[in-house]
Amino acid sequence: MKITVVGAGAVGATCADNIARKELCDELVLLDIKEGIAEGKAIDMMQTAALLGYDTKIVGSTNDYTKTTGTDVAVITSGIPRKPGMTREELIGINAGIVKGVTQNILKHSPNAIIIIISNPMDTMTYLALQSSGLPKNRIIGMGGILDSSRFKYYLSTAIGCTSTDLQGVVVGGHGDTTMIPLTRLATYQGSPVSNYLDAETLKKVAADTMVGGATLTGLLGTSAWYAPGAATAALVESIVRDEKKLFTCCVSLEGEYGQTGICLGVPVIIGRNGWEKIIDYKLNEEEQAAFNKSAEAVRNMNSVLSTLSI
Ligand code: LAC
Repeated sequence: MKITVVGAGAVGATCADNIARKELCDELVLLDIKEGIAEGKAIDMMQTAALLGYDTKIVGSTNDYTKTTGTDVAVITSGIPRKPGMTREELIGINAGIVKGVTQNILKHSPNAIIIIISNPMDTMTYLALQSSGLPKNRIIGMGGILDSSRFKYYLSTAIGCTSTDLQGVVVGGHGDTTMIPLTRLATYQGSPVSNYLDAETLKKVAADTMVGGATLTGLLGTSAWYAPGAATAALVESIVRDEKKLFTCCVSLEGEYGQTGICLGVPVIIGRNGWEKIIDYKLNEEEQAAFNKSAEAVRNMNSVLSTLSI
């Protein structure tokens, strides 16, 4: 098994670190355009192997895609991260060209790779990767919902005063401050609805905090977060390489599911060795479906910007 992570910034390096620690592959390639950075981080990580006890070989590469040949799963984190006050959507002009080029380079050397998109605006970058590559839809997965769902559980756990691992909770829709939809109605604390523990106002606040979870961290850190994005990506990669068939919210191409077509958006999917294998129907109520349609509209507007870019 071979995995490539493109982009050795904080998110890419943390993805690589998590993937190596979990021993999800024999070889992990970390590639970046900036001279030496991927090699440096790869060697630094390799020097933790004896301490942490893993055998994954990590190879750094400055933009040499021949090193990625035969990749089974490629994680694309390339592009610029947001700065405080910026939305993910403001990154489209720069990141679209980068994501398109990286996807082409990966597929040139690894035509059978499953592609995971992290770069923002993620829903639109996933759509772009799908459109520009012509790959079967199951092999392009945008990573956002797993991360947002984990943030949702963090805020729920804080409000309830319980551990996150006792909670079930998912966020669907777009991976944007105003487009994501924390499904509070379906969230449970070991099987009992969280509304048994939290009043409506608190639940509203948990949902609102979740939606701006990434922006809150960008404000604190001066750049976008990396620990939770890295861990969320590794969980996704793990379900692919170990064929776990886990149910995660991922950004995938919709063809009528959840009432939407011609768009990539976050919905619950089964993740296995073939990429995303099946969309699960959560049977949204009227209010949730209306929010999902609104989210789709916003992402569709963002996707339409792609045709105005010279990429
Ligand atoms: C975040 C970035 C990865 O939400 O989109 O932190």
